Order: sequence, then structure tokens, then C-alpha cells
Amino acid sequence: MNKISKLLIAIMAISAIGCVTENRGASSKAEVVQEVILSRRSIRDYKEEPVSREEMGKILECGIYAPSAMNMQPWAVRVVDNKEFLDDVTAIAVKQNPKIAEQPNFRNFFRNAPTVAFIACPEVSYSGEYDSGLLSENMMLAAWSMGIGSCCLGSVVPVMYTEEAKPYLERLELPEGYKLLVGIAFGYPADENTPAAPERDANKAYYIE
Ligand SMILES: Cc1cc2nc3c(=O)[nH]c(=O)nc-3n(C[C@H](O)[C@H](O)[C@H](O)COP(=O)(O)O)c2cc1C
Repeated sequence: MNKISKLLIAIMAISAIGCVTENRGASSKAEVVQEVILSRRSIRDYKEEPVSREEMGKILECGIYAPSAMNMQPWAVRVVDNKEFLDDVTAIAVKQNPKIAEQPNFRNFFRNAPTVAFIACPEVSYSGEYDSGLLSENMMLAAWSMGIGSCCLGSVVPVMYTEEAKPYLERLELPEGYKLLVGIAFGYPADENTPAAPERDANKAYYIE
């Protein structure tokens, strides 16, 4: 066998190995994505340390890469890891409903999260809420893939719209005509055991023949 033949055989062998690893990579990528989606749970207790701004940056990047109708990106996201801000809103919420402070290990109104993303969209919009939901889930899944827990908190909205919380709502600098949709708690889970998944109803999605 001459040198050129040997070289050709070597190139073919390397290409074949490349194909196999690429395929293996593809299937493991699917498995990883599915595992992240299926294992994500709402986390309702966190360590005190805020999510690092570097990690939060990646989570935000994954958020804004969500699809949106006509790529309008009609969301506004404001991240707060200022303890004083979160504690002040907590005090307002507790004043309105002292029962929430009775939850076990209660530290703050945001399920003890040290970092909260406030998600808003235009009051009048073609698909602002839908698009913001996609952004939110992208952020939560990205976080989970990095070992960071999250929990969507609809309960935050009515509190932020109270007279007392007005200065904090203003500090979010939402654009004119935007409404707050949800707060998302982020943080390193306090408990290493992930809660069990609440039951899902598979009958809600099916084929029409
Ligand atoms: C729009 C929205 C609002 C929610 N609001 C709250 C909330 O105020 N407090 C809370 O503890 N969980 C809240 N959740 C979390 C849900 O309770 C949770 O996603 C659901 O029970 C399914 O559990 P899982 O996320 O662990 O799969 C909210 C979820 C969504 C999507």
C-alpha cells in the first residue's frame, strides 16, 4: 500500500469515527435537554447567596433567545438581587398578610430567593404575555441546567401594585404602558433533594385523527 492509499484510509477512518461521535453527541444532547425539562421543579427555599451575575447573564441570554411573534421581543426583564429591596417588599407583603411569614424557614416573600427577575410586557400587545411566558421558561430551564432553582411567582404582582409598594414598582423602570406579569425567584436550592413533580394530566394533549 502506498503512502497516499494509507493516508486516504486514515482520513476515511477518522471521518467514520467522527460520524459516530457526532451521532452519539446528538442523541446525548436530546437526552440532556429532555432531562433538564422533565426534572425542573419549582424550588421554594434557597440559600442566601444571590445567583452570580455571570450566571444570571447566561440565564438572561437564554431568556431573550426565546421565540417571539415577529421577533418583537415585547418583554421587559428586571433582575433584583438587592437584599434591602426584597426585604422591604417582603415587609409590605407581610403587613398585608401576616400569615405568609408563618411558612417554615420564612426569610422573604419570594420563597426565600436572593435573586428575583420581574417580567413585564405591554398592557396592550398581540402576544406579549405568550412571548414573555416563553422567555420565562427559557430562563428557568437554563437556570436548572446550571444547578440554579427557580419558581414563578404570580403572588408578587398584586403586592407590587399596592400603594405602599409603588416606590419599588417605580424602581423597576418598566417602560410606559407595561404591566408586571410575574416575578421569578432564582437561587441555589437550600435542599439538595428536588421536590417530586406534581401530577400531570396527559389527556390534555392528544392527536386528532
Ligand atoms: C404563572 C405562574 C404563577 C405561579 N405562581 C406561583 C406562586 O405565586 N407561588 C408559588 O409557590 N408557585 C407559583 N407557581 C408555580 C406553580 O405552582 C408550579 O409551577 C406548578 O405547581 C407545577 O410544579 P413544578 O413547577 O414543580 O413542575 C406559579 C407558576 C406559574 C406558571
